[in-house]
Amino acid sequence: MNAEQNGRLTRISPGTPCGQLLRQYWQPAALVDEFNPAFDARMAQRPVKAVRLLGQDLVLFKDAINGWGLLDRDCAHRGADLSFGRLESADQGGGLRCPFHGWKFASDGRCLQTPAESAGSKLCDRIRQRSYPVVEKSGVLFAWLGDEGVTPPPIPGFDCFKAPASHSFAFKGLWNANWLQAFEVGIDPAHPSYLHRFLHDVALDDVGTNAAGKQFRSAAAGTANGEINGEEWPMTRIMREFAQPDISFVDKPWGMQLAALRHMTAELTHVRVTQAIFPATFVIPLSDTMTITQMHVPVDDTHTYWYSFFTSFAGPQRQSVSTPPGPHAL
Ligand code: FES
Repeated sequence: MNAEQNGRLTRISPGTPCGQLLRQYWQPAALVDEFNPAFDARMAQRPVKAVRLLGQDLVLFKDAINGWGLLDRDCAHRGADLSFGRLESADQGGGLRCPFHGWKFASDGRCLQTPAESAGSKLCDRIRQRSYPVVEKSGVLFAWLGDEGVTPPPIPGFDCFKAPASHSFAFKGLWNANWLQAFEVGIDPAHPSYLHRFLHDVALDDVGTNAAGKQFRSAAAGTANGEINGEEWPMTRIMREFAQPDISFVDKPWGMQLAALRHMTAELTHVRVTQAIFPATFVIPLSDTMTITQMHVPVDDTHTYWYSFFTSFAGPQRQSVSTPPGPHAL
């Protein structure tokens, strides 16, 4: 890839080719837990957050009447920062009031009040703050930044979105990298053998204090597929002891499917499949009962939020022992 091609793929502000493409997809904007007073006491009083997404400065808030709202952060009047706005209660009619001259906006961008105008002014009727659809899914607030007036596509039917709340767990991390670098390193099947290496194995049934990274230490071979000297091995041990995978890929309607083969014995080959889903999502197995779905959303041209969902196909997850693997895929 030359520098010009790299620029076309990684510049994502409004009006850029890649920015236009990524705006056709729902993008993760925040964790619901970022609004949870148990984690941020300010949210009990004022559930408002400044958000930067795809090179745009936005304000995300929970309106007392209409639920989640996402607006351009610069006020339609004179550009004051609405993330410093006053969130009004249901008794006050809801809405977010600009701190500068008091214009008030509903979560759908309607202007509700322009209090400094003379009585009978119809100015409010002609004002609209750009708003964006927001959907809550599996602990994450998704935003759609496509063109105004266009109906967004449905949220994709990934397993992590269909699983019961008890069987999925979402978290996020900030990367000092563009979205393509983040996505590309995640689908690379060789790096887990080194970057995510656990040097000391723990018992497969250990869910106590020594079970950091339990999701990656559950059985992944020696169960349904036969035994390895009578043992069951976790993914981490397979990655560690078989560090030269045979890697191949095929194009798929949703993107690309990668296979990493690790030949363990004459009879047994561990097959690890990564589903890369256009444009910036992939799904990989962590064990024989757990997957991780990773989505990469540009903050701007050089920073990316990595959102990940653990999905259990066996039973409820023990969130108290969930230890995210750090800013890389396992
Ligand atoms: S800048 Fe927002 S009301 Fe004036």
